[in-house]
Amino acid sequence: MGPRKAFILLAILLVFISVETGSVQAQGSGKDPANKYDVKKPLPGTTQVRAVCKTKGECFNTTLTCPSQCPDRKPKDNNSKGCFINCGSKCEATCKNRKPKCDGFGSLCYDPRFVGGDGVMFYFHGAKGSDFAVVSDNNLQINAHFIGSRPAGRTRDYTWVQALSVMFDTHTLVLAAKRVTKWDDKVESLTVKWDGEDVSIPTDGEAEWRIMSQQREVVIERTDETNSVKVTVDGLVELNLRVTPIGEKENKVHNYQLPSDDAFAHLETQFRFFNLSDLVEGILGKTYRTGYVSPVKRGVPMPMMGGEDKYQTPSLYSPVCKVCRFQRESAVATL
Ligand SMILES: *[C@@H]1O[C@H](CO)[C@@H](O)[C@H](O)[C@H]1NC(C)=O
Ligand SMILES: *[C@@H]1O[C@H](CO)[C@@H](O)[C@H](O)[C@H]1NC(C)=O
Ligand SMILES: *[C@@H]1O[C@H](CO)[C@@H](O)[C@H](O)[C@H]1NC(C)=O
Repeated sequence: MGPRKAFILLAILLVFISVETGSVQAQGSGKDPANKYDVKKPLPGTTQVRAVCKTKGECFNTTLTCPSQCPDRKPKDNNSKGCFINCGSKCEATCKNRKPKCDGFGSLCYDPRFVGGDGVMFYFHGAKGSDFAVVSDNNLQINAHFIGSRPAGRTRDYTWVQALSVMFDTHTLVLAAKRVTKWDDKVESLTVKWDGEDVSIPTDGEAEWRIMSQQREVVIERTDETNSVKVTVDGLVELNLRVTPIGEKENKVHNYQLPSDDAFAHLETQFRFFNLSDLVEGILGKTYRTGYVSPVKRGVPMPMMGGEDKYQTPSLYSPVCKVCRFQRESAVATL
């Protein structure tokens, strides 16, 4: 019997055991050894998911119950909070946002408006059709592709982020909004590419796609039926992302004068970084340095961050810019 067959048999056996005991074998967040648990069905008459901790230490074999305000680990309705099970340091189940919070730390929304790691809000205009490094560090780079328009008589473009490429190890993960003429919430307008190949995120079961690459697990899970995902790259970054259009009203209020045949579908994203170095670069990255002092003016409606020349990259997939730090592990370009 080959190892593959043995594995399949083992998997079948495990499913049987789970069915027997009424527990669903599902693992905690990624490969984090400090947070392992088995997910159990809610008690009869409740909807609150439970988990039994498997991590050694104080928490071991403790059953945690999700709060009633966020009974599911992965809610897919408008209740944006999910239950986060912490079997590590805390030994508790708490509610956390699973949708980008555009006013929260590490957010990138609207005509691009950032909130830095220091909590300071700023705008970065860039230029339509161009690419800029959002984060560039030793082992991670995230670039953004800007789309936009320039109404007659204006001196600059209005811009939005249409795509992100997340580069690490030898890999590139691209999350992009499709160009849509007329927006429909129910139609998927998010595309995902892993190393140049299209990825489709399942809509049933755990509604997630995962891959183990080198020593890292990458997980993309839906946080709504369409157009909304949470991405986790072990040890590097976690992001909540949503594809959204420019509405009729927004177009009028801001006088964007957008063409009627383009909904300007774009991304709203909130990042959480792990293990950034103190020399991290990029429009957003730099704001995570310890002792960083933001150069933007406070107390004005649109504080501006400059540096277009420093952060511009030749393409969405290029880790090269004047101040960029990321270097590919090997020079394999598969795109
Ligand atoms: C875990 O707890 C359950 C009941 O709370 C008990 O039956 C079981 O023996 C415990 N397992 C271990 C390994 O301590
Ligand atoms: C979710 O919110 C949208 C608009 O914000 C609304 O149209 C839709 O009906 C809501 N869906 C549910 C299941 O509440
Ligand atoms: C954190 O980053 C450093 C390099 O900046 C790397 O050597 C180390 O392995 C990283 N730690 C983790 C947990 O990824």
